[in-house]
Amino acid sequence: MIVTIDGPAGSGKSSAARQLARRLGFQFLDTGAMYRAVALAGQREDVDWDAPDQLAQIAQKSQIELSQDRILLDGQDVTQEIRTVEITQLTKYAADNTQVRKILVEAQRKFAEGQDVVAEGRDQATVVFPQAQCKIFLTADEKVRAQRRFLDLVSRGERVTLDSVLDNQRIRDQQDEERRIGGLRKADDSIEIHTNGMTPAQVVERLEALVRERM
Ligand code: C5P
Repeated sequence: MIVTIDGPAGSGKSSAARQLARRLGFQFLDTGAMYRAVALAGQREDVDWDAPDQLAQIAQKSQIELSQDRILLDGQDVTQEIRTVEITQLTKYAADNTQVRKILVEAQRKFAEGQDVVAEGRDQATVVFPQAQCKIFLTADEKVRAQRRFLDLVSRGERVTLDSVLDNQRIRDQQDEERRIGGLRKADDSIEIHTNGMTPAQVVERLEALVRERM
């Protein structure tokens, strides 16, 4: 069974998807982490960000492995490193790159072969798994989303202000919505859930109930 969870940054989808996968005994596919890992690989190899072919080559040869809670790039644990503000900003070069998207979409489909999966991202219901049995679109008001992300970054020791987080989020929302291929769009058959005012536990419970109805 494939469950897709798409939505904008800060909608709470990452932690909800991870916990949902754990509860169901499914594998968790964090596709944002894959785009982030490609950006980190590019930064490490001092890629020319204006040369899309170079980044695509790096994506092709990089080994990205996901397990429930960790992400490995060429065998090294980069779980924390891919979440910095700098890598978050550079990730647009991976996400806007058509060749990189092709490589990662293929890897995502391969990951799901023969497994029950909760797949989380922007294009999981629309592009990667249009046949998924349960499609969810999670969202929340932009201020609520920015506040969540701010608290998350501060808890990880980043020095940021709420205003800067909101500004960066607006830029990212716009980039995600305007992306021609794999952009953020709710699939016609996705169930939309607004998480404003819901606790993380309530979100997971709601998602689990929706999935179990379809099992
Ligand atoms: O979800 P997360 O914030 O980790 O995603 C990082 C970036 O990767 C997003 O801003 C988005 O631009 C991109 N992304 C994407 N397609 C996905 C998942 C993430 O383009 N399936």
